[in-house]
Amino acid sequence: LNYHVPRTRREILEILLKGLQRLEYRGYDSAGVGIDGGNGKDWESNAKSITLIKQRGKVKVLDEEIHKQQDIDLDVEFDVHVGIAHTRWATHGVPSPVNSHPHRSDKTNEFIVIHNGIITNYKDLRKFLESKGYEFESETDTESIAKLVKYMYDNRESDDISFATLVERVTQQLEGAFALVFKSVHYPGQAVGTRRGSPLLMGVRSDHQLSSDHIPVLYRSSAKDKKSCTALPRTDQDTCLFPVDEKVIEHTNRVIFLEDDDVAAVMDGRLSIHRIKRTAGDYPARAIQTLQMELQQIMKGNYSSFMQKEIFEQPESVVNTMRGRINFDNNTVILGGLKDHIKEIQRCRRLILIACGTSYHAGVATRQVLEELTELPVMVELASDFLDRNTPVFRDDVCFFISQSGETADSLMALRYCKERGALTVGITNTVGSSISRETDCGVHINAGPEIGVASTKAYTSQFVALIMFALLMCDDRISMQPRRREIIQGLRILPDLIKEVLSLDDEIQKLATELYQQKSVLIMGRGYHYATCLEGALKIKEITYMHSEGILAGELKHGPLALVDKLMPVIMIIMRDHTYVKCQNALQQVVARQGRPIVICDKDDYETVKNSSRTIKVPHCVDCLQGVLSVIPLQLLSFHLAVLRGYDVDCPRNLAKSVTVE
Ligand code: G6P
Repeated sequence: LNYHVPRTRREILEILLKGLQRLEYRGYDSAGVGIDGGNGKDWESNAKSITLIKQRGKVKVLDEEIHKQQDIDLDVEFDVHVGIAHTRWATHGVPSPVNSHPHRSDKTNEFIVIHNGIITNYKDLRKFLESKGYEFESETDTESIAKLVKYMYDNRESDDISFATLVERVTQQLEGAFALVFKSVHYPGQAVGTRRGSPLLMGVRSDHQLSSDHIPVLYRSSAKDKKSCTALPRTDQDTCLFPVDEKVIEHTNRVIFLEDDDVAAVMDGRLSIHRIKRTAGDYPARAIQTLQMELQQIMKGNYSSFMQKEIFEQPESVVNTMRGRINFDNNTVILGGLKDHIKEIQRCRRLILIACGTSYHAGVATRQVLEELTELPVMVELASDFLDRNTPVFRDDVCFFISQSGETADSLMALRYCKERGALTVGITNTVGSSISRETDCGVHINAGPEIGVASTKAYTSQFVALIMFALLMCDDRISMQPRRREIIQGLRILPDLIKEVLSLDDEIQKLATELYQQKSVLIMGRGYHYATCLEGALKIKEITYMHSEGILAGELKHGPLALVDKLMPVIMIIMRDHTYVKCQNALQQVVARQGRPIVICDKDDYETVKNSSRTIKVPHCVDCLQGVLSVIPLQLLSFHLAVLRGYDVDCPRNLAKSVTVE
């Protein structure tokens, strides 16, 4: 939304498309924009019509499509303009231009809307609207919102109803989760956004921007950043057909996170926020927050993909997770976000770690050390299953929500479920201001920096470290635990260097990938601290290489998975010198006895395993409960190289999104 700075349509489209490209990591099967349609001299008359351009595929395809449009004059200048844009990740209806957003009220585009989330009562709304003569063109849940807003407008009781009031009335009819932004020919120069359950924030500048996350609104802070950004090689994802003009890309780092049922309206260049269900004392004042993040952090640099960059960032990202929190000289840990609650946590009945995907694996990876150091029962739960089971939760439970994005719908719903039952809730997130970090009672930001690659890597190792720090904090006054605490803290001190050493195996792992990339399946086996590594390694391979891969608990080998082993099946085993070493050696023998030729990830000084294995990946040794940070990295690298060799887009795997904000 631009105010009082004349901008060409070209510049406006560039802002929208750049923003979309930065959101592409959340989902990218189609994209669309809705802009003012007129080509005259007066912005207000130009806003009396809306042009919609939508395409299946990535934002780049939309960009090309815009250039093919004959009737759009890119040089027309606007004093005021509202544009809305969206990347879609299909839930209802296949990816296609007609199912893409913005959706429209009618063929003349009187009202258009973009939506993130799911409307659960859309069938009823559609039936009602069809009975009133509305003709639907898409299979989406969102289209009923576009039709409903027109229905409300056409049936308004007075002519001076504001856009915000209209939207409020629409949202009262909606069930489900949504973040919405509306634009209309009846309200030139105005935009209204609202949310319930899905994230929405506002970048605060003279040109306000509403967005699902902060990355599109981020600014470039200094000349130095500008230089480094423009000097970067432009890859597919960065390329935009519109010439890059530094002036128009400059945004802001000042944002307002909207709460559920806030309605944010921009009119005459001014932002106002209303509450739909306003109760006494519930004032809609929202603080402006300044984000400590700059665009440079989300650029790919010299790496071929964000995932590769993020794997190689791990020596620094784990340091950032620990920064200011561990004193390695006197072995103390301070977690500011937990200090007011730690006594209560120490008195609790049990710890429940709840998450999805990779974040769930971080819980599995640290469960044993949490049990050891807290001496509490620890449950690790997949959020969806936890909710399906209606799991009993009590007031004296402490529930952790581990989430890179802080927005995963299943985890967020589990959080609300636990809150209702009176449990203390703790967030372990990587996104300041995210729903999980705001709705939990307390928590730890893992500070890994933005993670863009859909396959999570550095967030996993930082979540791992954050949970270990929590375990250390829980036993800091237990005399009997001090030797163990010291051992782990000193292990954390050297961890970044050991990660660097593992990363130096990259060439060797790339070579291994050239031998494996045409296989259909890979089994990954381990136990104890490394069971989580097996699950996480297999997930990485599935996500980005589309090969079948299974993480197998070596203790279960003889109860089924051994039947899969023969001389052709690729097997990776993790054998480290911890308390499971002898049992892992047995598993190795069992696999070898079935003519399996496992590739073994082992301790670099473990001559016995090296001698008995046809192929090894040797990683440095570290304290047992931290070794999982080192054993997972070869598998991150392997999945990356396999995906490249198989010719897939590493950062954008098919059918997957970075942040799953729908159930
Ligand atoms: C999606 C992503 C995964 C991620 C999971 C949980 O499935 O593709 O990479 O692990 O969500 O996300 P969260 O943001 O809650 O950690």
